[in-house]
Amino acid sequence: MDKQNRYVALITGATGGLGTAMCRKLYNDGYRVVGNYNNAEKAKKWIEQQKAEGYEFEMFQCDVSDYDAVGKMIANIEKEIGAVDVLVNNAGITRDGQFRKMTKENWDLVLKTNLYSVFNCSRHVINQMVERNYGRIINISSVNAQRGQFGQANYAAAKAGMHGFTKTLAMEVARKGVTVNTISPGYIGTDMVMAVAEEVRDKIVAEIPIGRLGGTEEIAHLVSFLASKQASFITGANYAINGGQHVA
Ligand code: CAA
Repeated sequence: MDKQNRYVALITGATGGLGTAMCRKLYNDGYRVVGNYNNAEKAKKWIEQQKAEGYEFEMFQCDVSDYDAVGKMIANIEKEIGAVDVLVNNAGITRDGQFRKMTKENWDLVLKTNLYSVFNCSRHVINQMVERNYGRIINISSVNAQRGQFGQANYAAAKAGMHGFTKTLAMEVARKGVTVNTISPGYIGTDMVMAVAEEVRDKIVAEIPIGRLGGTEEIAHLVSFLASKQASFITGANYAINGGQHVA
């Protein structure tokens, strides 16, 4: 298939651990992969490294917590690449700390980056998807939205909010060829998880029945499945992928 006819997949937070694996997997699947990033310095090195390994991504800078900036980014993607067929709302941050000490700044920052971004990006692509009668929106939540986690009131609230959004939007666009799903990863071997203090992390890993952290490519594999045309009867679902750490 030539470049113009490939499905376009936009992955926010592309340069992070999960984002990188998703970009590479969807690229290998044949998508035209558009990566979003916020930190230009980090992205520059990342793009060079991906290129050296044979991955050509189309990259767009934007703070996904900024509604107007996202609007401009999506308009540019549509103009330069084409309409977005698959949106993976993956961008996310942590600002952990017990709630009694949590600042309003850290509450706002996590809610805006992890949850408002889902509104911002989905809102700017949804009408195009509906008009073309095809689309996939995949929201990357967390096991900690399903079960709670000491020190993550902000993160768990944002990530749980994501799935309420998924269920509702899934119903609204179900007859328009657009599916909306959530993936809730457990503890994966990313920089975000490795930033948790070692003694805390060791205790968490000890609670995972499979006995190890997840691999980024294991999450990417599930993204690829939900993004596929064949997954058209799956919508409004929340896929747990956590090594058995939380079973519901
Ligand atoms: N359960 C119960 N009590 C706990 C606890 C726990 N899990 N962890 C700490 N405490 C208690 C301590 O015993 C201590 O109690 P006292 O005050 O009575 O002595 C108190 O809480 C700790 O106080 P601190 O001042 O050290 O706590 P803090 O506000 O600095 O926060 C923390 C501690 C940094 C949040 C730490 O608990 C922590 O790192 N938790 C893990 C957070 C985590 O899992 N983050 C995941 C990041 S990766 C990710 O988010 C990806 C994903 O989706 C999975």
